[in-house]
Amino acid sequence: MPRFAFATVVPFGRERHGVLMRAASAEVPPLPLLEQIEAVLRLDGGQVLHYSDKRHGQRRKRAPVAAGRGHAHRRPAARRRHQRRKPGSSRSCRKNARPGSTAGLLLLPGAKPPVAMPSRGKQICSCFDVTDAEIGAELMRCRGGADERLVQLQSALACGTNCGSCIPELRRLVRAGAEKCLGPAMKTFVRVAEVWTPSPDGSLLELASGLFDAAPAFGAISRTMCFGRAEGLPGHAWDEGRPLLLPHLEGSYFRRAAAAKAAGLTARVALPVFVSGKLTSVVVLFCGDDETHVGAVELWHNDPRVSTDLTLADGYYGSTAPAFEELARDGSIARGAGAPGLAWQREAAVFIDDVPRSRQFLRAGAAASAGIVRALAFPCSTLGRESWVLNLLSSGTTPMARRVESWRPEGSSTHLQRAFGFCEQQGPLPAGASSALPIESLGPIGLAWWTGVAQAASGEAALAALPTAAGAGLRSALLIPGTSDDSVSEVIALYF
Ligand code: FES
Repeated sequence: MPRFAFATVVPFGRERHGVLMRAASAEVPPLPLLEQIEAVLRLDGGQVLHYSDKRHGQRRKRAPVAAGRGHAHRRPAARRRHQRRKPGSSRSCRKNARPGSTAGLLLLPGAKPPVAMPSRGKQICSCFDVTDAEIGAELMRCRGGADERLVQLQSALACGTNCGSCIPELRRLVRAGAEKCLGPAMKTFVRVAEVWTPSPDGSLLELASGLFDAAPAFGAISRTMCFGRAEGLPGHAWDEGRPLLLPHLEGSYFRRAAAAKAAGLTARVALPVFVSGKLTSVVVLFCGDDETHVGAVELWHNDPRVSTDLTLADGYYGSTAPAFEELARDGSIARGAGAPGLAWQREAAVFIDDVPRSRQFLRAGAAASAGIVRALAFPCSTLGRESWVLNLLSSGTTPMARRVESWRPEGSSTHLQRAFGFCEQQGPLPAGASSALPIESLGPIGLAWWTGVAQAASGEAALAALPTAAGAGLRSALLIPGTSDDSVSEVIALYF
C-alpha cells in the first residue's frame, strides 16, 4: 500500500464475502509491482483471463474459480492522470456485479463498460442498502394510511429498522407514493360514466347525471342528446332488455363515436336497470385505452335452454395480453366457479383485490402475466330468463375505480351494511354488521336503494353526503342498483 499515492482495503460480506482493495497513483505503476500484486492475488497462473493495453495503461485480470469460493478480480490497476475514478463502495461493487458478463467485459478495450448497466436507483437506507426504486415497487403493494404503509415497507425491506436515520426520507416517499396513487393525474380504467333515465312520458332516455371529469368535451355533447327506444347504445340496451358491450367504435350503432375517439374512450357497456319489470335507468360505462390502461371488460351469458354454463358473449381486452383473451373465448364457466360464476350463483357482486393469488379466479396465471390484479363481477338486470354477468378487470396502477363497495340489507329494512369494500389507498374496508348504517344517512347510496335508479354523484357536496367516503380524497361516485327477483338487492358503488 505505501507504494501508491492512494490505497484502501475494505472488507465486505453479506451474500458474498471478500476484501476490496483500491489503489491509485499519478503515474502508471512499474510492471514488477503489478506482477507482485497479481502473484499475491494468485492471478499469475494459466487459468486467468487477461487484458492489457500498455498505451492507455489498462491491465485487467480475472481468475474464474470454483463455485462457492469467490473469485479474484483485478480491475485496472493504474490509470493515467486524466482518468478519474468514479465513486463507489464495496456494497455497490457486490450488488452491481454481473459475473456472467464481467468476464466478457474484461477482454474489451476501454475503461467504460460497453453496455448500459441498469441503475438500482438512489440508495435511501444505507444500513440495509435499499434504494428508492425498490421502495417505490414495494409501496405499490402497501395498503392503509401513511403509518401502516411505513410499517409494511419496513417489514418487507427492513429499511429504517436499524439506525433510523433514513426514516424521514421513508416518510416522504410514503407520502409521495400516496399522492401519486390518488392524485388528479391518476387514471382509472373506467373513465366516464353516464346515467340515462326515461323522460316523464317514457318515450325517450335523457341524461340524468354523468361523470365526465376525464372527458369534459364528450360530456358536453352527451348533455345535448337523448335516445328513443332502440336508438344508440342506451336505447338498444333498453329495447333488448339486457346489457350490451361495444368493444369497438367503428361499425356500431354508437352515435358519439367520433367524440369518444377524440376523448380516448373505447369500450362501452350499457347496463339497463329493471325494477318490477320497468326500466328505471341505463348506466353506460366508458373505458380508456392506451398502453398504460391494462384492463378488460367481459360480458358473460347463460341461456338455460342451451347450456348450464356461462359463455363469453363479448369482451374488450384493449392492450391486455392476447393469451388472457383466448382463455376466455375458448372456455365456459360453471355456476359458482370463478368471479363471474360466483356472482351468478350468489346473485350479488363479487370483488377480488388480488387476482394473481386468488383461488376463486380461474385464469389467475394468465391474469398475472397480463397484469390483471382486480376483478369485479356482478349480475346484470334483465327482462328475460337469460342470465348476464359483467366482469370488470383491471391492473393495480389503473384500477377500475379508486374504491369499490357493495351495500346490502343487514336484516332490517332500515339499514344497509357494506358487504365488501376495497379502497386503492386504504385497502380492504370494514364490512359486515359493524359497517351497517341507516339508509337515509347513506346519501346517493340510499337514493339508489329506495328508487332503483342509478346515481352519478360528483362534487364536494355530493361526496359529503356519502359518509363512508369522507376524507378519502374521492371526487365522484357511481351507484348502480343490483336486482334480484325484480327488486333491488344491493347497491354497487364505484368511486373515482
Ligand atoms: S439508514 Fe436506514 S436504518 Fe439506518
